[in-house]
Amino acid sequence: MTMIAPSLLSADFGNLARDIGRCEAAGADLLHVDVMDGHYVRNITIGPVVVEGMRRAAKIPLDVHLMITNPEQFAEDFCKAGADWLVCHVECPGDTGGALRIAQAMGAKTGIAINPETSTASAMALAPFVDMICVMSVHPGFSGQKFIPEVLQKIPALREAMRPGALIEIDGGVNVETARRAREAGVDVIVAGTHIFKAADMKAAVDSLRG
Ligand code: DX5
Ligand code: ZN
Repeated sequence: MTMIAPSLLSADFGNLARDIGRCEAAGADLLHVDVMDGHYVRNITIGPVVVEGMRRAAKIPLDVHLMITNPEQFAEDFCKAGADWLVCHVECPGDTGGALRIAQAMGAKTGIAINPETSTASAMALAPFVDMICVMSVHPGFSGQKFIPEVLQKIPALREAMRPGALIEIDGGVNVETARRAREAGVDVIVAGTHIFKAADMKAAVDSLRG
């Protein structure tokens, strides 16, 4: 069954613990945490201190998506803060492989994220070693953008390069219709911010993405 990871970027940051509880009650499998540094992307969100608070409030795993430069300098801090998954971009300046080795040594699951314009070739060096590949279906930086369907074409090549049991995640612009296309393309984990947090009935929204 497809796993659903609500993106907490769309939560009410004044009521994070409440919104984490709402996601869990709605049947979320993971909580997606978008970390942005104002360098790799043009937005600044949260750091390890907030992740640590999220970890205390949450029962389900935290899927921490680092949109930052030099992830190797921060991997240990985010894992210590309680990241269960650490996902780093293959395109970011710095040592993505090094960051993932730190995460793995600290017992976290690892992932790489690839931007819409990034080819599958750029993911091949790390694909065999990670637990997940996050296929970005928007340009990273903001929630509420439009899904770029062409990225789904990358999935067969990525699947072939990944080890058995590793997961493919789709992130950005997912609604009922784009979730269906993603599931048909073989996605295992669906991230959604706007669709889940703008819904009047969060459980119905989560179920609608699972199909
Ligand atoms: C974009 C983030 C996404 C985003 C998802 O940079 O990585 O996780 O918050 O939000 P929606 O579902 O609104 O596109
Ligand atoms: Zn994300």
